[in-house]
Amino acid sequence: TNRTFTMIKPDAVEKGHIGGILGMIADAGFKIVSLKLTQLTVADAQAFYAVHSARPFYGELVEFMSRGPIVAAILEKENAVEEFRTLIGATNPADAAEGTIRKKYATSIGENAVHGSDSDENAAIESTFHFAVREQF
Ligand code: GTP
Ligand code: MG
Repeated sequence: TNRTFTMIKPDAVEKGHIGGILGMIADAGFKIVSLKLTQLTVADAQAFYAVHSARPFYGELVEFMSRGPIVAAILEKENAVEEFRTLIGATNPADAAEGTIRKKYATSIGENAVHGSDSDENAAIESTFHFAVREQF
């Protein structure tokens, strides 16, 4: 479909990159449908990343994602999920292409500035996790 879900992660918020990242998102042709500054509890982060619970980095990921405020947003563009994954770049910034958000703002494979949904199904689940129906414009 034409929607995806993103988070600007605690590392990027701490460093003052909210404006820069939202600017790159807008410049790439995404419309902001929903937007909020919020913070995940440890339980929220465990639930959001439950799919990674067996991975060795799960504890570190949960601690990182709950340590400070994040920006959550629903974005709209044709082919949104795939287009946004292209815009953010590879998980590890060392592998991220020139011109991507992670190339510019990520510091490591863990602290990589932004999240992007990996499927239409997960975009819908993650959007509902963060936004009430009345906030999904
Ligand atoms: P998301 O958009 O955040 O889902 O990233 P992704 O789809 O590019 O990567 P993936 O879903 O495989 O991993 C989710 C998140 O876990 C990553 O974005 C990182 O923040 C973190 N992560 C992945 N691999 C590692 C790792 O090897 N070490 C650490 N510390 N964190 C990792
Ligand atoms: Mg992922």
